[in-house]
Amino acid sequence: MITEGMDLNRFILEEERKYPQATGSLSRALMAIEAATKIIVSHVRMAGLADVLGRAGQRNVYGEEVQKLDLLANEILMEQLADSGEFYALASEELEEVVFPEKGRDGKYIIALDPLDGSSNIDVNVSIGTIFSIYRKVQGTAEDFLQGGRHQVAAGYVVYGSSTMFLLTTGNGVNGFTLDPAVGLFLLSHRNLRMPDRGKIYSFNEANAPRWLQPGLRRYIEALKERGYTARYIGSMVADVHRTLIKGGIFGYPADQKNPRGKLRYLYEAAPMAFLVEQAGGRSSDGTRSLLEVRPEEIHQRVPVFLGSRQEIEDLERYLREE
Ligand code: AHG
Ligand code: MN
Ligand code: MN
Repeated sequence: MITEGMDLNRFILEEERKYPQATGSLSRALMAIEAATKIIVSHVRMAGLADVLGRAGQRNVYGEEVQKLDLLANEILMEQLADSGEFYALASEELEEVVFPEKGRDGKYIIALDPLDGSSNIDVNVSIGTIFSIYRKVQGTAEDFLQGGRHQVAAGYVVYGSSTMFLLTTGNGVNGFTLDPAVGLFLLSHRNLRMPDRGKIYSFNEANAPRWLQPGLRRYIEALKERGYTARYIGSMVADVHRTLIKGGIFGYPADQKNPRGKLRYLYEAAPMAFLVEQAGGRSSDGTRSLLEVRPEEIHQRVPVFLGSRQEIEDLERYLREE
């Protein structure tokens, strides 16, 4: 439910005003992300039609080649953010190497992106999202992305669900904005979002349980079942974490025989979601410590991920220690 008339742009500018020394660069960076995601929304909402409309001449209504949505989202973000001049470097789950845009030479920030999360859900009309994570430029090399999640300046995601929502933290709590499609504004709908200390939902791909590397994890999930928890697993991290943020509970993608270091990527998925969850009063873990304490060694590194209500993660870590 929309409770405030404040839109995301105005919110960003009002936050900036609290810091008289701010140059406005972070605000402009965030507004560039907002603009790019609005372009992505319009494509996401056409997803089911792209093939139909494209079939005539292999072009869609916009006269563009019909393209896979995850690659299109990547192109839109890379182009828009490079063009904003606010980012010294961009890293994307879709690109092997870090990009240093020409216009960003004076940029103070670097950004890591999962342009389209949950891509296996595109064709079946289930929620997908975009995740971003911003750090300060330090040395001006690709190593700047390896500072560790604790150094994030801002992080957020957009979930393209039954409505479109933008969740943002700049280290001062979490705020959620819902897109009003009629006016094209993200309106503040969830001010200072706080997670419950405990929930009733667990969210794991339980089909992998026989191959999970930690037996304590299987015992933990069995204990949740005994306590009457329910299971929800969408398979889009953004959507699963979004529900966990609002309703509490736990989301996890542990290490298994197929993915011995976990499946999710530290830079584009784990670190930004950990920042949001911890800023909402929840906790994150790689099994032993907060995900924000992890220092990745390379940009595409994977990590076991657990995100959830404070008490859930405490219980989980206890089960993992006891094994
Ligand atoms: P992406 O679409 O960006 O590659 O991410 C998919 C991820 C994440 O969204 C989700 O939590 C997880 O993969 C689902 O994996 P499984 O299908 O193995 O459960
Ligand atoms: Mn992803
Ligand atoms: Mn992706």
